[in-house]
Amino acid sequence: MRQGTTRHKSENEVLSFKSRMWFRGIITAHVFLAHLTLQGAYAFSISRDSIWIESHSSMRGWGVDVGQCSSAKGHTKQSRAGCGERPPFFNRKWYLSSGVTKEVHAPQPGEGMVLLVFNQRNARLLLHKVFPLGHYWFFWSDFQWYIKNIAPGRLVVLTISVSGTLGLRHTTAMLAKLGSVLAQHLTLQAHWSWIFIKGGRTISETAVVTNLNNIQQHSALPLCSLSELGLGNSSSIEQSRWQYCATEGAMGELCDEHSPLPLPVPFPPSLGSEAATALANIPVILTAGSRHQYLRHTLTVLLSTPGIQLVDLFVILGDAPPPTIKLLYLLNVSYTILPVSGNYNNKLFTYYRNVYEYVAENFAKAPAVIFLDEDVEVSPDFFSYMSQTLWLLKADPSIYCINAFSATGFRELSYHPSRLFRGSVQVEWGYAISLNFIKEALSIWPKESHGIKVILYDYFLYTFVSKERECVFPEVGRSFHYGAGTNTMANLITMERAFLNKTLLQDFGVKLSNVDRLSLAHWKEELQHNISQATVLVGNPCKDNLVTESLNSTQGHSLLVFYHHLDTTEENGIEVPDVTQYYHLYSCFGAWSLSEQGQHKGVGILSLATNVTLYIVGVPYSPYSNLKPNWVPLWDVNSIPEEEFIIVDDNMLHRGEFTVHVPNLNMTTTRLISKLSGL
Ligand SMILES: *[C@@H]1O[C@H](CO)[C@@H](O)[C@H](O)[C@H]1NC(C)=O
Ligand SMILES: *[C@@H]1O[C@H](CO)[C@@H](O)[C@H](O)[C@H]1NC(C)=O
Ligand SMILES: *[C@@H]1O[C@H](CO)[C@@H](O)[C@H](O)[C@H]1NC(C)=O
Ligand SMILES: *[C@@H]1O[C@H](CO)[C@@H](O)[C@H](O)[C@H]1NC(C)=O
Ligand SMILES: *[C@@H]1O[C@H](CO)[C@@H](O)[C@H](O)[C@H]1NC(C)=O
Repeated sequence: MRQGTTRHKSENEVLSFKSRMWFRGIITAHVFLAHLTLQGAYAFSISRDSIWIESHSSMRGWGVDVGQCSSAKGHTKQSRAGCGERPPFFNRKWYLSSGVTKEVHAPQPGEGMVLLVFNQRNARLLLHKVFPLGHYWFFWSDFQWYIKNIAPGRLVVLTISVSGTLGLRHTTAMLAKLGSVLAQHLTLQAHWSWIFIKGGRTISETAVVTNLNNIQQHSALPLCSLSELGLGNSSSIEQSRWQYCATEGAMGELCDEHSPLPLPVPFPPSLGSEAATALANIPVILTAGSRHQYLRHTLTVLLSTPGIQLVDLFVILGDAPPPTIKLLYLLNVSYTILPVSGNYNNKLFTYYRNVYEYVAENFAKAPAVIFLDEDVEVSPDFFSYMSQTLWLLKADPSIYCINAFSATGFRELSYHPSRLFRGSVQVEWGYAISLNFIKEALSIWPKESHGIKVILYDYFLYTFVSKERECVFPEVGRSFHYGAGTNTMANLITMERAFLNKTLLQDFGVKLSNVDRLSLAHWKEELQHNISQATVLVGNPCKDNLVTESLNSTQGHSLLVFYHHLDTTEENGIEVPDVTQYYHLYSCFGAWSLSEQGQHKGVGILSLATNVTLYIVGVPYSPYSNLKPNWVPLWDVNSIPEEEFIIVDDNMLHRGEFTVHVPNLNMTTTRLISKLSGL
């Protein structure tokens, strides 16, 4: 370790763990005080194919440096000089920002949890990604996803740049399972570095937990001496696979040497002839670009989904870097590249227009088209769901899309895999539309995004093309939007809620109930009937007993209705229900509250339990307003007494979902040492 990077005063102790149980599959942690880190000699002798690796974690940034140990000298000294020259390909080094920042703050670009993945045979850098885990919401999921998809055997470095523990949340349990001794105990201001073999031993783990000090660690290790896979007499596809994998860091089972994904991907079970007929000639368009790690996951799941027809699957690339193209070659999926230009949402706006145009030209006769994105995982029931609902696009002109994503399907509001809804909603992550709708969209979709008020393409379609039409969506989702992309940063808590706190159905072949009753006339009639039969709730919706008391008094009646005041307001020149009048109300039920999406004409439908459905009716906005009995008072968030509003605003029933829990608030070095040593 170099001078000056770690001070060895008692209040600045560094905890360091080094595993000496090489190649035994057992990770034993030895607790050293700081000064022992420096002197701890290694229990192996460095051979020709050994490397040294240094990591650095501080308020200033981070650094990782790797070099080859010289072959001549056998030694145990952990210094750069002792390890000899670096060949050029090892010469990678990063440092961030100049000035020293003293306080932990929300991470700037490049700050957070730094992940590096190296090839265990040649120390080549395969993946370098920084997760902004100084943010509490959302990114833990992406971090977890990447860690999971690193192949066993890879050399991995995690190190914190500035701050990156707040957003770790329950991923620390996964890190502990992978062998980290310290991850679960890190404080907000901790600096930490962990060098390990995925699925194997820790090379070195070091942290400071109670102050903003730097850490720097230096380790040496032998490279893996097993030869690359795919050599010798394996098939050409296997050779291509392992060649590809030798350059990739997070490709999941595709590059897992111990249980590799079979290629070609085995065919999933069939859904039967009825489904096949319903899905015949329906192209499945997968839009993708440079996030090939996501694309690998999305595609391998899709290829294993019952009902997939390979001949109908088309990948349309905007960006088309070599790792994406090679992946598609390995998976034997055909693709088209469309030109893209611009940045961020401007780019996406014109890209999706080009995709629609391409589809209109190339699949003009298709009965409908299914669209997916590279970071959308489908449920095994995806095609079964589509096969039972697609006919509605043609049969009911008041329906413009079939979504696989559930607009309302939060974990505690989704119970019935066979239940469907219709409502005002945009096309959402795994959707089907008709060619007519595509043409309609293209007729008003500007070629340039310049001067456009609504630049998110799906929201643009919703606002300006859908008109009064609605979409069908399931109560329990048939797709899951797992990736982090261009718009993730905008509002992390909303992203977490809208995408991650949703269920994804794991069964397939679910028979949907009463699909024909989704057509507008039937739906209206049934809804009218249900609302008029429902038990009316009166009182403060944010009090726990409102629902439970009325369930008691109605003895098993499963339909409830709540009436509230709702007017319209103008947005983008269009009349919409006023979000300020229902935001709190929906929040109190743990439902989507930021827009009217998912509602049907001012009626929110919530599954509160397997046998309880709540209708929330906005009066006078909703055409169902006339069902409100005269004696029922209209709840209005703007006119309830202050003491009632305090209860509403507190949202005790669902507040926990939005509360930040700071980890290890009382952790000190002494506590940690006694905890780890079992004293
Ligand atoms: C690749 O897919 C095509 C059809 O899309 C098929 O004809 C061919 O056999 C496949 N190749 C392999 C190696 O599976
Ligand atoms: C009406 O209520 C029944 C159960 O009583 C339920 O199965 C059905 O889905 C409801 N329909 C609507 C449109 O909410
Ligand atoms: C509902 O009924 C159960 C038993 O029937 C009772 O224990 C409970 O207190 C009642 N809840 C309310 C809110 O009245
Ligand atoms: C709903 O079902 C649960 C058990 O599944 C039961 O305890 C409860 O009383 C039922 N509620 C109604 C309103 O039927
Ligand atoms: C989402 O789910 C996680 C895990 O269950 C939970 O901790 C978190 O509070 C939820 N977040 C929101 C915004 O609902």
